Amino acid sequence: MGLSIIILAAGQGTRMRSDLPKVLQLLAGKPLLAHVLTCAKELAADDVCVVYGHGGEAVHAAFPESDVRWVLQAEQLGTGHAVQQAMPDTPARNRVLILAGDVPLLTAATMTCLLEQTPADEMSVLTVDIDDPTGYGRIVRENNRVKRVVEQQEASAEQRAIREINAGVMLCPGDKLKSWLSVLGNDNSQGEYYLTDVIAMAVADGVKVHGVKASTWVEVMGINDKKQLAEAERALQARLVDELMQDGVGFADPARVDIRGTLKCGKDVFIDVNAVFEGDVELGDGTTIESNNLIRDSKLGMNTVVHSNCHIEGATTGSDCEIGPFARLRPGAELASNVKIGNFVEIKKSSIAEGSKVNHLTYIGDAEIGTGVNVGAGTITCNYDGANKHKTTIGNDASIGSNVNLVAPIVVGKGATIGAGSTITRNVPDDSLTIERAKQKIVEGWTRPVKKETK
Ligand code: UD1
Ligand code: MG
Repeated sequence: MGLSIIILAAGQGTRMRSDLPKVLQLLAGKPLLAHVLTCAKELAADDVCVVYGHGGEAVHAAFPESDVRWVLQAEQLGTGHAVQQAMPDTPARNRVLILAGDVPLLTAATMTCLLEQTPADEMSVLTVDIDDPTGYGRIVRENNRVKRVVEQQEASAEQRAIREINAGVMLCPGDKLKSWLSVLGNDNSQGEYYLTDVIAMAVADGVKVHGVKASTWVEVMGINDKKQLAEAERALQARLVDELMQDGVGFADPARVDIRGTLKCGKDVFIDVNAVFEGDVELGDGTTIESNNLIRDSKLGMNTVVHSNCHIEGATTGSDCEIGPFARLRPGAELASNVKIGNFVEIKKSSIAEGSKVNHLTYIGDAEIGTGVNVGAGTITCNYDGANKHKTTIGNDASIGSNVNLVAPIVVGKGATIGAGSTITRNVPDDSLTIERAKQKIVEGWTRPVKKETK
């Protein structure tokens, strides 16, 4: 029997108090809905449909590449009404799995269990026991069998004490779901079409409803406000770090690291506190990331050390590089192996070949630096003439003295030496010494000005 997945993502998310639609709020650097879509795709359904509405086009536009069916719920009249919008194009012969766009930590493993445990003509709801069930729909059982779900607003004091809640995930035979939804009413305190009313209808029709319990509440946590969003962030971070530790990655403190994207690590990687990884980051074997680093969309080679307080984005390194402390690698920084980038150095769109060093207080932009080059403290590639960017090329084994300005476009030949304090505007030949500065003037017996008395 085929499987259709419907993800409900049209709600406004009033409790977020935000202009951004709820399902676009970020969790570990990705919209809530992205997490649910990832889970849905792992289940290999015939058809994945997202019901969107509030913030409509923004939600749709945030996922331009995804091969899902988008269905507009123009007016948000409740979760039951949302599913109704998706039903016309959902094959009645399929089983229908309904997920909520605001339950992002659900795993494909739990969903697979639910699918396997539910016979094709029966129904399941995912539930969990929690200490504080406030706000969730309560699972009402009789003789241990699920009878219905009562929403918070409708629940009696006795029902509000029930700690087993509806996680917002439901699995139904498609044909039956269609017929139940066609007679769903909105006679409740919210005037909404509650999807959860379908459960009592199933029971009335003699369809068995399984309450499948999730192993942890974290997995089924619904995100309705910023506090829950922050809690889910911590929970997801703990999960991501756990997986990495199982793969052998060392953390000084698993609670003080943030992964907002995908972090791939080789063997014997060590990550100190307050490291933030964004986008796609790869760390080679033996890499060390010291404290307080932001690393985004970068790939660092084996045994590279990033000292404290660096900002690294769109960069790649070979093996055995040393970066920082206090260095900034900007997009297009390409370091070969054994390259050293020291403190207060900024590298943008430049390649630096093996064994070269840029150790202190330097800006390198739009440059190609050969092997074994030493760039002295305070050197600047003057790459911008106010309108256009120009290239600096430095040959192998060149030595650039301290406080040198290289006015691009410029080529410094192989093995060339440039004296400290020079402003270089013409190409420098191989193996030469170039010094460009005023001759030193000495005035003997100089008397410094003396401060005058003011009356
Ligand atoms: C819902 C369930 C509740 C469950 C909880 C779990 C109902 C009536 N209640 O409550 O039993 O415990 O989730 O987190 O289903 N949505 C639409 N269109 C709408 C309304 C909502 O697409 O008209 C979407 C929302 O974007 C959201 C999901 O459905 O992704 C759930 O809606 P929400 O308003 O958060 O329902 P809860 O009050 O959390
Ligand atoms: Mg919710």
